[in-house]
Amino acid sequence: GAEKELEGSLKQLVAKLFEIALTVTVPDEPDVEPVVAPCPPKFGDYQCNNAMGLWKKIKDKGTQFTGPQPLGKAIMSNLPQSEMIESCSIAGPGFVNVKLAKPWIAKRIHKMLTDGIETWSPKLNIKTAVVDFSSPNTAKEMHVGHLRSTIIGDTLARMLEFSNVKVLRRNHVGDWGTQFGMLIEYLFEKLPDWEAANDQAIGDLEAFYKASKERFDDDPGFKERAQQAVVSLQGGQEKYRKAWTRICETSRRNFQKVYHRLGVHLEEKGESFYNPYIPGTLDILNKKGLIEESEGARVIFIEGKNIPLIVVKSDGGYNYASTDLAALWYRLNEENAEWIIYLTDVGQKDHFDMFFTAARRAGWLPADDKKYPRVSHVGFGLVLGEDGKRFRTRSTRVVKLVDLLDEAKTRCKVAIIERGKGKDWSEEEVDKTAEAIGYGAVKYADLKNNRLTNYTFNYDQMLNDKGNTAVYLLYAHARICSIIRKSGRDIEELKQSGTLDLAHPDERVLGLHLLQFAEIVEEACTNLFPNILCEYLYNLSEDFTRFYTNCQVVGSAEETSRLFLCEATAVVMRKCFDLLGITPVYKI
Ligand code: ARG
Repeated sequence: GAEKELEGSLKQLVAKLFEIALTVTVPDEPDVEPVVAPCPPKFGDYQCNNAMGLWKKIKDKGTQFTGPQPLGKAIMSNLPQSEMIESCSIAGPGFVNVKLAKPWIAKRIHKMLTDGIETWSPKLNIKTAVVDFSSPNTAKEMHVGHLRSTIIGDTLARMLEFSNVKVLRRNHVGDWGTQFGMLIEYLFEKLPDWEAANDQAIGDLEAFYKASKERFDDDPGFKERAQQAVVSLQGGQEKYRKAWTRICETSRRNFQKVYHRLGVHLEEKGESFYNPYIPGTLDILNKKGLIEESEGARVIFIEGKNIPLIVVKSDGGYNYASTDLAALWYRLNEENAEWIIYLTDVGQKDHFDMFFTAARRAGWLPADDKKYPRVSHVGFGLVLGEDGKRFRTRSTRVVKLVDLLDEAKTRCKVAIIERGKGKDWSEEEVDKTAEAIGYGAVKYADLKNNRLTNYTFNYDQMLNDKGNTAVYLLYAHARICSIIRKSGRDIEELKQSGTLDLAHPDERVLGLHLLQFAEIVEEACTNLFPNILCEYLYNLSEDFTRFYTNCQVVGSAEETSRLFLCEATAVVMRKCFDLLGITPVYKI
């Protein structure tokens, strides 16, 4: 029925029509997947590319067709009647072009406006996913790499959540391991009454870590005590356990300051959480014959890699890889996750490749890495300073993320006040807007790049109000809201009675772009590339500008219809912001 026809993205709907046409045209080839893609505007909106490939398949089987073009023509004429399509044509060797019908595009946009943007959410075939992101290391400062992990991971989680997938947002904090011996011992030494002390007394954890490392390297007595402390901690001795908890808590409170500013929520299940699961996990792998002895260590050999994956060190201790194997086992078996997504810099690619291969050999994952249950390592490049080297501030070795975010906010606040907005806004309004724009700018500057590349951190660039920046996009959205406000019309009321028409070519372009939202989110989310969504958002604002420049809205004969387009653009932009973790602003 008509309702059913409306399900799925635009591309999927077009593909469905071609699926029917293909079945009718070549009934002997039942498994042909329709290949549909957007096409150059002079040809239409979408194009089906099946004829050429299909021709190669059937030409020697005694077919009635004489070439790919006649085959394409047949596919075209077998397209079912649909209100979606205005016209079709054949191009080149057999491309079938489809031009969508304006009334149909308009109807779909109107329906989204009344039923909500959720009706445009992608449908994925999974129920539960784990997104393992941010994951800083306790007692060390969170660095810009963790910022990228946090920003990109949060967006992917949001896109999956929008697609109705239950997402377990996991902070795989590095809170276990031998460094805790020296940290605990240093705590005892420096702050004998540590149990009563506050976070300030412990101070900067980065410095704390460095100082304890120096003691460890310089003083053999300290080193010995630190090594003993690891044993006491792992043996569960209360005093050591408490000190460990104390250090983790202090660290956590620091991380939380960054998450709070970014509006990111995560559930911490650190390395320590999986520690009890390691022996059982290794046992399973051992029974499958995967684990071997090598130079005193227990290892898994991986085909094509020079060095094996160490799962038990020669001193009997576990490591990063044993923890990740146990975490994977837990996520697959205890949490029933079907897709597990890991965010770290590209430098860790080998680690992930190796333990993924081990899991595949153990039969935990299917051989085809696109099939579920599935694991994906989402790698990203470095953050560079303007000197082209790793991003660092002049004074300190690393950048404190809290300071970096505060700086973005402060700069925005100054810009807002300079624009003369400070005087008619409340202090709180200025502050909230500065936060939305400042933090949004940092996120967008990161997300708009292909994540695999390094990107250069530059305040002036990201805070520019022209060009492809969050500032520009947030202002564009606020401007649309102000057009609607100034019209004095009640959009909710209009939705009941008004109609949407796409008579002007720029209206049609904008309308079609709006409709493509669902397939773009699906592509960005399933391919794990948020920059696809950023590009869509930027193009949307460009299409809107062209429409607004060439089509009068308020006071025109088409006012109602054009206000609908404004509203639909604002709704889709807001959903993009939401998926990118950016807070929209409504006034500028
Ligand atoms: N703590 C690690 C780091 O800072 C990242 C952990 C990523 N997650 C994982 N399951 N290995 O590099």
